[in-house]
Amino acid sequence: MFTVYLTSREEKLGTLLSAIKNVPGAVLLGSATNLRQGLKECAQDHPGVHLIDDGLLEHEVGLWEQMATLPYPAVVIGEAVDAGAARRALAIQAKDIIPWSSLSTDLAAVLTRVATSLEGKIRQNGRVIVVFSSKGGVGKTTLSVNLGVALAKASRQPVALVDLDVQFGDVAAMVGDAPLVTIYDLVRGTHQVDAELVKRALKRVTNNVYLLAAPNNPEEAEEIQADHVVQILQLLRENHAYVVVDTAPGYNDINVAAFDFADVILTVCTPDVVTLRTIGQALRVFLEGFHYEPSKVRLVLNRSGSKTGVENLDITRVLDYPVRYELPSDGAYPARAANEGEPLTVRYPESLLSRAIQQLAIDLVQEVEGRKRTTEKSLKTRTWRNWLRRGDKAEGTR
Ligand SMILES: Nc1ncnc2c1ncn2[C@@H]1O[C@H](COP(=O)(O)OP(=O)(O)OP(=O)(O)O)[C@@H](O)[C@H]1O
Ligand SMILES: [Mg+2]
Repeated sequence: MFTVYLTSREEKLGTLLSAIKNVPGAVLLGSATNLRQGLKECAQDHPGVHLIDDGLLEHEVGLWEQMATLPYPAVVIGEAVDAGAARRALAIQAKDIIPWSSLSTDLAAVLTRVATSLEGKIRQNGRVIVVFSSKGGVGKTTLSVNLGVALAKASRQPVALVDLDVQFGDVAAMVGDAPLVTIYDLVRGTHQVDAELVKRALKRVTNNVYLLAAPNNPEEAEEIQADHVVQILQLLRENHAYVVVDTAPGYNDINVAAFDFADVILTVCTPDVVTLRTIGQALRVFLEGFHYEPSKVRLVLNRSGSKTGVENLDITRVLDYPVRYELPSDGAYPARAANEGEPLTVRYPESLLSRAIQQLAIDLVQEVEGRKRTTEKSLKTRTWRNWLRRGDKAEGTR
């Protein structure tokens, strides 16, 4: 079973709705006759496929770039199989284009293929990055939010941001939104987290970045168990190329579940003696207690270069562990962006910290993307080759 959202001109809506009804396994999520409205609803619902009438695309050039980065696949229905329709479909990175003339024969096969195999295969194993520190106030949330935005930009793929600071999480506040649905609503009174509910709980932060917010009240935190966390992270990694998890300090059950599940733990420290002492202890727990590989546990020095009297080299020596990433002090910019309710990397993309986080994201993406890009390219080529073949056939039969 898979879900379809339909956006089409009013006069074509009826035909398309009944065509979708005849596709086995397709469940209609909703429909719109206005592309902006359709995109707004899809951002909430994340359909298995967004089916789009090319007749609407023509008039919305300004939306193409945004559409190319959306986290769910699009399929276009074209009036004529011509270069203009193909260019529009390519511009929005549609997975396929179906001519109206072959709707009855091709719709079922194309929708099923796109919704159930292509996307799923590309995104099955998103990378889980946990941002942690043994100390409060060192910049974990600032890094999590902006790393999420930067990863989405660098990878052009969807990113989930999870606020696992379950008592006093402030990711939603930092991006200017009071969430209606939170992680608490996913776990309340159940051991089994529902995949559809997880999708619906995600709130769009910015292009391709979706937030699962922390509970609104600290007392709700008790309901969240380690097992819930594992299920949620697994579900999110199936649909997002990266899952960035913000945490509160401490080795409680839910943090340890996230650490175990993570591919990378970014351990944040600042250049001061008190923080460094606790970070040394935390690193020991990761490496000697949990036996994690050093490549998984990466030290991030925030506010690097601050004149605290503790030099970067001293830090490596004291901790006997390399600083993998350095993030500079950025004056009032991070606090100002937070006060304005926008991620720093969106509000002040050229600030020192923004640029350092963007570089960190590029490093993380380059680490994993090489092989995936090759796979995506060959899948895309195959899709378009299929379409061109169908186009040839259609031309030949005219
Ligand atoms: N590199 C930086 N330069 C300037 N200000 C920074 C920097 N990093 C973080 N800050 C500021 O430091 C404060 C604390 O940051 P943040 O909330 O991200 O830390 P945290 O580790 O998540 O804190 P908590 O433990 O309370 O959750 C914020 O006001 C933030 O804007
Ligand atoms: Mg925080």
